[in-house]
Amino acid sequence: MKTLAAVLREAGRPTPYATSQPLEIEELEVGPVGPGEVLVKISHAGICHSDLSVINGTRLRGLPLVMGHEASGVIVETGSNVRRLNEGDHVVFSFVPPCGSCPPCIAGRPALCRPGNEANGAGTLLSGSRRFTDAGGQALNHHSGVSAFSQYVVAAEESLIVVDAGLPLQEAALFGCAVITGVGAVFNSAQARPGSSLAVFGLGGVGLSAIMGARAAGANPVIAVDIVESKLQLAKTLGATHIVNPTETDAVEAIRDITGGGADTVVESVGNEKVLAQAYAATGRGGTTVAVGLPHPDRQFTVPAISLVADERTVRGSYMGSAVPKRDVPKYIAMYQAGQLPVDKLLTGTLGLDAINTGMDRLADGSAVRQMVDLSLPLSGQ
Ligand code: APR
Ligand code: ZN
Repeated sequence: MKTLAAVLREAGRPTPYATSQPLEIEELEVGPVGPGEVLVKISHAGICHSDLSVINGTRLRGLPLVMGHEASGVIVETGSNVRRLNEGDHVVFSFVPPCGSCPPCIAGRPALCRPGNEANGAGTLLSGSRRFTDAGGQALNHHSGVSAFSQYVVAAEESLIVVDAGLPLQEAALFGCAVITGVGAVFNSAQARPGSSLAVFGLGGVGLSAIMGARAAGANPVIAVDIVESKLQLAKTLGATHIVNPTETDAVEAIRDITGGGADTVVESVGNEKVLAQAYAATGRGGTTVAVGLPHPDRQFTVPAISLVADERTVRGSYMGSAVPKRDVPKYIAMYQAGQLPVDKLLTGTLGLDAINTGMDRLADGSAVRQMVDLSLPLSGQ
């Protein structure tokens, strides 16, 4: 069938993207639906910093690429051998499709699934297939098995989590990346406890989710760090007990003062190795620095070796919140519905597919947190 989709054919175009238009809206053919695959009508797709990183060349992905990796939708067709999903199910996407049987999957670490990450790197579905074709007959790459900036997508059953149909789909989409990554970093990777001190550098959709998770975990103090004042104010309403703006104050000193020597947990959700170094410096003895942001693959991060031993320090990477999506997405949705994770506060605007380049500009300049592309909106120009 036909679908309109946002396609990236060249990375590294100059900003503003509203002018350089790295994402072009094209009519593609999507299908067929293979064994173990389903056709999903996308409802909402979030604009995340990882999308920007692909567009600006920080995160290398094979092109051309149908972009988008945080989304919700409704199943409209199921292929053969699909066991868990039915037409009409409301679903959220997991941006790693866990195969369920490789060593990391068996060990309960599906974010590290080997075939899932290999497929993502190759731009295919878990089966190795590509299901988008352009007007010239060329196959296009899938983005992390999701490719949600498209009205319809074919996805592997493993990429999908069925969610409560009573949850608005705009809110549901947030759980696929921002929430699972940020809340998972706090619960799964850092194992934050009541009364432990926690700081977060970078208050986008991911970092603000970490702030909400910290509050839900009972951490105290919860220190929010960002260079944009409006993000700091939002963090306060979501549970931060202290806010720090590094353009005005030395953030490392401020965190060390507030916590009496350094925080038990410091989360880096910017994606900058220099900020990760600050996060490490702001971590206390016996504490854990959690790296969540994705820097350019060439960038290095060094620490004084002695501090690992003498201070019993831990540096822990957290991919997709070290989550088990089928366990954690329903859990975090239930917490949202119980008022414990007010993730709807992350939403800062809805846009049509053809305004997507402008949306990327707004994320890059800090004026938006989580914008949602609503695939049901008519195309109306920027
Ligand atoms: N110190 C503190 N905060 C900073 C700094 C800095 N030096 N530089 C930028 N920031 C803030 C921005 O102002 C912004 O609020 O980091 C935040 C990043 O937020 P988003 O761009 O919304 O990114 P998000 O989608 O939350 O993703 C964060 O996690 O999944 C990864 O690839 C993703 O690396 C990215 C990170
Ligand atoms: Zn993301």
